[in-house]
Formats: sequence, structure tokens, C-alpha cells
Amino acid sequence: AAQQPRLIEFSRLGDTTIGYLTVAQNSGLPFTVQRVYWTYSVSDEVVRGHHAHKELEQIIFAVSGEIEFTLEDIWGKQTTYYLDKPNVGLYIPRLYWRTIKFSRDAVLLCLASLEYIEEEYIRDYVIFSQLKQMGSK
Ligand code: TYD
Repeated sequence: AAQQPRLIEFSRLGDTTIGYLTVAQNSGLPFTVQRVYWTYSVSDEVVRGHHAHKELEQIIFAVSGEIEFTLEDIWGKQTTYYLDKPNVGLYIPRLYWRTIKFSRDAVLLCLASLEYIEEEYIRDYVIFSQLKQMGSK
């Protein structure tokens, strides 16, 4: 069966006095990390994303602020996830169309299974929708 999106809770080391530390390392992840990027200073009027990935898998965190992440599968089913905990990541399998909204102070951290390749993106929603007919999932 194909992988499903899901929230992954990472443990927190520390307490309210000294603060917290959360760690991600390959041995505890569903894929091997080849790239890390972060997105910040996004106006709350902007909607980012508008693409899917042919092969890439990701885990996305809101390490600060709040991020609203809407995923759509190739059958058209949409699910919205609200990320606001630095120790909770959203696992995203391949072939999910996403739209992303940020609070002013939000910092999105992404752990990615592949290095950046533009050819690996699907940026045309019509092409994404056609994957259904092709039965590629
Ligand atoms: P994109 O993935 O479209 O961002 P978002 O989903 O947040 O809207 O990336 C924005 C731009 O940055 C795009 O031109 C591709 C480029 N980019 C890289 O060069 N390397 C990377 O690792 C990433 C994630 C993006």
C-alpha cells in the first residue's frame, strides 16, 4: 500500500526551566535525509506551494509560529494539517499537491529525501490531476 501523510511526534529533551531540544536522525526516520531547507519571513497573505513531487518524501516542521498545510492526493481528497509544535513533523509521501500558509513569525523546516532537482516537481495542477487517469498510484 502507498504511504499516507501523517504527523510524527518527536520527543522533547528538557523542561520548562532549561528549555527543549528535539532531534531528528536518519535511524528514526522513514527515509534517509539528503537535504534540509527552511522557509521564513513569509507574509500571512501569501500562499506558497502549489506543486507536488514525483519522488520526493519530506518531513515538515513549524519550528516557530504556525503553518497551515493542505495536502491533496491524486484522487482529489484534501486534508489540512495545522503545525504549531516544534517537535511535531508532517510526513509527506510522493504525489501530494500542497498549499501552505504561514503566520508572520513562522519558520518552516523541511527534511527531504532527495537533493533539489526542478525536474522532479509537478507544478501544473492539470498534469497532477491527470495522474489519476493514468493510475500511477
Ligand atoms: P518551492 O519549492 O517552489 O517553494 P514553496 O513550495 O515554499 O513555494 O521553491 C521556491 C524556489 O526555490 C524555486 O524557484 C526553487 C528554489 N529551490 C531551490 O533552488 N532549492 C531547493 O532546495 C528548494 C526547496 C527550492
